[in-house]
Amino acid sequence: MDSIRIQGRVALQGKVRIQGSKNAALPVLAATLLVGECSFIENCPRISDVHAMISLLRSMGCTVHWHEKGVSVDSTQVRRGEMPQEAVTGMRSSLCLLGALIGRCSEVVMEYPGGCVIGARPIDLHLSALEKMGVEFTEKGGKLKAQAQNLHGAQIQLPIPSVGATENVILAGVMAEGDTVLTGAALEPEITALCRYLQDCGADIEGVGTGRLLIRGGRTLYGTAFRVPSDRIVAGTYLFGCLGAGGSVLLERAPGEELGAVLDAAGEMGAKVCTAREGVYVQAPDRVGRVHIRTEPYPGFPTDLQSAALAASVCCEGVSVIEETIFENRFRIVDELNGMGADIRVQSPRIVEIRGVERLAGRHMEAKELRGGAALVIAGLMAEGESFVSGCPYIYRGYENICRDFRELGARVVSV
Ligand code: EPZ
Repeated sequence: MDSIRIQGRVALQGKVRIQGSKNAALPVLAATLLVGECSFIENCPRISDVHAMISLLRSMGCTVHWHEKGVSVDSTQVRRGEMPQEAVTGMRSSLCLLGALIGRCSEVVMEYPGGCVIGARPIDLHLSALEKMGVEFTEKGGKLKAQAQNLHGAQIQLPIPSVGATENVILAGVMAEGDTVLTGAALEPEITALCRYLQDCGADIEGVGTGRLLIRGGRTLYGTAFRVPSDRIVAGTYLFGCLGAGGSVLLERAPGEELGAVLDAAGEMGAKVCTAREGVYVQAPDRVGRVHIRTEPYPGFPTDLQSAALAASVCCEGVSVIEETIFENRFRIVDELNGMGADIRVQSPRIVEIRGVERLAGRHMEAKELRGGAALVIAGLMAEGESFVSGCPYIYRGYENICRDFRELGARVVSV
């Protein structure tokens, strides 16, 4: 079932419940290592990146069980800080285990998490920040070895609001001796979720939701129950699916308050959007208008929704422009979309111009990464006739069941 078959040109109607957030669940699962007791993580998405993270936790001695409403993690018996190779190289988000394991085990050995198709994904900011906290990095058999006999607080300034580096400083900081002041911290809601989980466990963190965090280390942490917030990127994906395919939908539990820049862009494209208690209502225009999108760190337009917005714009009135400022190679789906009849011109590695066309023709496409793959499904929803998207394991890394969700909205989509 590595492909998805789509019958296009079916307007979306109805409602779909948005899953728990992948990028909140992963650092929270890593943080359970710091607790040394049992935590219950509710609304944890059943996606392959979470299953991979759970395998990593189990390989280090945690007892992890899935339940109907979430997952329990008992980290009483964490025994070692070596991460199995296959888990790290295949899943970059294992990097946030670095800070957690340093905090719990004082020593970690891991593969260098490589880059991926969207960019080189360097880790220099992680390493320099943790070095300031007393972590020593060496190379051991081609692997990265981190040791911290005296993990201590520090004053750390991030030149780029790196989400992962912010998470690693928080995870190490709650276990360090003394206080850590982190300035230039990422503001993404997933950082706030991680801090809220740690606070519920007894951590002392000030400035949550701002770019300056004060983390008072050395507190004993206790197990807790925590609910993972809804996934703003999945919600935004389905929002752009509706703009592309047309129709009117309710994205149940969508975190409208975290989607400001996205809702602004949707409004510019002619959508009527309304954030309510139950979620976000979206009504697509007959034809989307032109839009200028520039991805930025939160609260700007999220890079993870750039591909979905690109797909939804290919039949726009006039000419749209999308600028990608976060990753250096995130226009990977342009060739696939142009093969369907789109007219997208790459002005530079960071800027594309989309001249709206009347129609797209269905075709076979191949997903090469998570968010681009989801965007190809949106293109299939928009196209005349039948489309196939192969390489779907990329999509299943972040979407519990994209076929089920779009079918809930009336789309003719099936895994094959
Ligand atoms: C997180 O990745 C997300 N992943 C990404 O989502 C998301 O695109 C990204 O943040 C930006 O919002 C998870 O949360 C698991 P960064 P992360 O460190 O932490 C540069 C998805 O589809 N940088 O904020 O790896 C980096 O090259 C994924 O769910 C350095 O230069 O992103 C990039 O240009 C894709 N040195 C920028 O910072 C470093 O040491 C932002 O990266 C670290 C990062």
